[in-house]
Amino acid sequence: MFLRFAGLASPGRTRNGNGVWRGVTSGNLCERVGGEAAVDAAVDLFYRKVLTDPAIGHFFDNVDMDEQRGKRKAFLSMVFGGPNTYGGKDLRSAHAGLVGCGLDDSHFDAVAGHL
Ligand code: HEM
Repeated sequence: MFLRFAGLASPGRTRNGNGVWRGVTSGNLCERVGGEAAVDAAVDLFYRKVLTDPAIGHFFDNVDMDEQRGKRKAFLSMVFGGPNTYGGKDLRSAHAGLVGCGLDDSHFDAVAGHL
């Protein structure tokens, strides 16, 4: 999803006349979306959009963004079936404090919109 928005093409993929992707026959999802470099680029673009969104940027005011980008990249690589180096918290624990600061579905939707 956000790899598409990042304009990162996946190797070997073409669309048929109906707009359906063809040619994806092997490799894990991480490889199919373009590998770690594509995930890195997509995460960088994603956080540029998140930090400039007035609805959600403030949640990251006191966050070390270099560390955050690294965790997010490792998290996505893990869930896409690539190298698993994620050593961060589970998502419920990671966001528990933010719920106390007003995090709700509208903020999730805003983040999802940048993916
Ligand atoms: C698709 C949904 C989401 C995913 C997959 C995700 C993923 C992550 C990951 C992997 C971390 C690092 C966990 C750690 O520190 O060990 C994290 C932290 C964080 N996330 Fe999310 N997140 C999501 C939604 C959101 C939303 C909706 C917000 C707020 C608008 C948000 C704000 C934050 C902040 C501020 C932190 C840093 C917390 C801290 O350092 O204490 N996240 N997220």
